[in-house]
Amino acid sequence: MDALGNRFYFIQTYGCQMNESDSERYAGQLEELGYHMTDDKDIADVILLNTCCVRETAEGKTLGKIGELKHLKAHNPELIIAVTGCMAQEWQDKLFDRAPHIDLVIGTHNIHRLVELIKERQRHSDHYMAADMTLPAFHELPAKRFQKFFAWVPIMNGCNKFCTYCIVPYVRGREVSRPIADIVNEIKGIAAEGYKEITLLGQNVNSYGLDLKNGTDFSTLLHAVDDIEGIERVRYMTSHPKDMNVAVIDAIADCHHVVNHMHLPIQSGSDELLRKMNRGYTVEHYMELVAYARKRIPDLVLTTDMIVGFPGETEEMFQDTLELLKRVQYDMAYTFIYSPRTGTPAATMPDQIPQDEKSHRLQRLMEVQNVYSLAKNQAMENHTYDVIVEGPTKNNKDHWFGRTTGNKMIIWENDGTVQIGDTVPVVMDKGQTWVLKGHLVH
Ligand code: SAH
Ligand code: SF4
Ligand code: F3S
Repeated sequence: MDALGNRFYFIQTYGCQMNESDSERYAGQLEELGYHMTDDKDIADVILLNTCCVRETAEGKTLGKIGELKHLKAHNPELIIAVTGCMAQEWQDKLFDRAPHIDLVIGTHNIHRLVELIKERQRHSDHYMAADMTLPAFHELPAKRFQKFFAWVPIMNGCNKFCTYCIVPYVRGREVSRPIADIVNEIKGIAAEGYKEITLLGQNVNSYGLDLKNGTDFSTLLHAVDDIEGIERVRYMTSHPKDMNVAVIDAIADCHHVVNHMHLPIQSGSDELLRKMNRGYTVEHYMELVAYARKRIPDLVLTTDMIVGFPGETEEMFQDTLELLKRVQYDMAYTFIYSPRTGTPAATMPDQIPQDEKSHRLQRLMEVQNVYSLAKNQAMENHTYDVIVEGPTKNNKDHWFGRTTGNKMIIWENDGTVQIGDTVPVVMDKGQTWVLKGHLVH
């Protein structure tokens, strides 16, 4: 609280875009309660950590952060510390044992209960937990958006895939699709507020609508949002190769505002490993999807996720993964070291790979991928791309950046002629592995 009696909240988000989006809905509730956002923990009345548990490193970071908050609580016993999100769902009341200074633990299906629990906590000095997963996964909640021209739009929650390494289905529950009318309404509203770009979010957007059992699917949704006036770019995350199909690729190609960036995680280039991961497709099926997508969307920017060191991954299987990188030639790959998650089948599979071997494979994988990332970015040199201006880079206020429809980040020298949120053409001068440098067209 400040001298004027204003109350403040501080939110830190870990993990994926779904968590970013959920954080905006936590913030929306706090704003309705009259609280203001701050980035200064010292003046906050509510500190909310929205957590991820997809890998052990994510959990470790969060536990460290929770520990750091202890001294703030000692100074200010009125401070409410809330731990929310996937790790809260996984740990539940064990979090109170680990860190007694936590006040609230809120799981993934209980986002809407924040205000009620804060009030409860203010009345009685006790811990409160809301982690019941039988509640509906979707609640229409006000969002306080953290960005000005880009908006997250959740279209579903949960995952039914049960990849054997992954904890997400256990902490997010089964797939539940948000009704198409609610999605379209939200997007119309934000378009009217001046938002230009939206990202449709789900763990597996390609299975959108299947649970609604009314014939709606992801391609129906793409067509429904494509014509909403004011929205220049429609992104979507994440696609799953098992449910991706010709109809969806056709919709992506045919819709004017759906971007030319596809994130299609493959995880491994070995059929045997894909089977052990329960991914539900083969490398050949994946290659057919890529070929069709590249045929229909000639300027396609393709990115992926990869896991190295899954149990039983032999050097030969790992070579298959390197081979796949060479065959596909992705624009970028997000690469992860397999992290055993308690309760998932892979955690107890035989032939776990030693940590140093996993690290070594990750290094080798990145070296191969970097060649293609660089080549793809260099191929963009001397061409002109429209970017939506995002503003100054973190490290240099004179360097501004924006993204192309393909989600490539371009940096240029700011000359004061463009504003955040403008859509402007930029000529690409130099492609590097991670970023591109260019100049504004005047
Ligand atoms: N639903 C999305 C992504 C979910 S998590 C999908 O299926 O593509 C994002 C990425 O984290 C996954 O694609 C996977 O590459 C990685 N991941 C998930 N569980 C992991 C684990 N236990 N260890 C290492 N990486 C993991
Ligand atoms: Fe996890 Fe697989 Fe579901 Fe993605 S599809 S969230 S990797 S279980
Ligand atoms: Fe992490 Fe949960 Fe997302 S585990 S990756 S925050 S769905």
